[in-house]
Amino acid sequence: MKISIGCDHIVTEIKNEMVKYLKGKGHEVFDEGTFDNERTHYPIYGRKVGLRVSSKEADFGIVICGTGVGISNAASKVPGIRLSLVRDVLTAKTAREKLDANVLGLGGRITGTGLMQNITDEFLAAQYEKTEENEKLIERINNLKKENEEIKKEEFFDEFIKKWDLGYYHD
Ligand code: RB5
Repeated sequence: MKISIGCDHIVTEIKNEMVKYLKGKGHEVFDEGTFDNERTHYPIYGRKVGLRVSSKEADFGIVICGTGVGISNAASKVPGIRLSLVRDVLTAKTAREKLDANVLGLGGRITGTGLMQNITDEFLAAQYEKTEENEKLIERINNLKKENEEIKKEEFFDEFIKKWDLGYYHD
């Protein structure tokens, strides 16, 4: 697979380790930086990864900062990006299967490297379940980016709330 990866100066060594790991698994890697420990700003690298994925040059993206919070927020603002900040393997799988996430957010100072590798493997291996329901839900979520009158209505998500009552979804 083609993977784009980016980080801030706090976790450069961890990103480098992830690059090595991904290449070892046979993936083609776009290392978007940063490349040293000079203080920088994570939105720059979150955006680079987001653009590489939204342009379809890369199949998936991985963004890493200290907590994962900052760079995930930045990358998720790039149109076409569906990002999940993940700390465990089940969340990685769910993000792919249910929401067709295309960028994985990781906190290099929170999650150990071994677990980040397991999370990444699961994220890349899981398949999106392209059901009518998942497609519809993703479309609604995407539409939140285009704030409009319909979204402002209290009942915007009523269809999904009703489905909970009908036993359509499970915790
Ligand atoms: C450092 O810039 C730190 O704020 C960053 O790595 C990250 O933890 C933010 O969420």
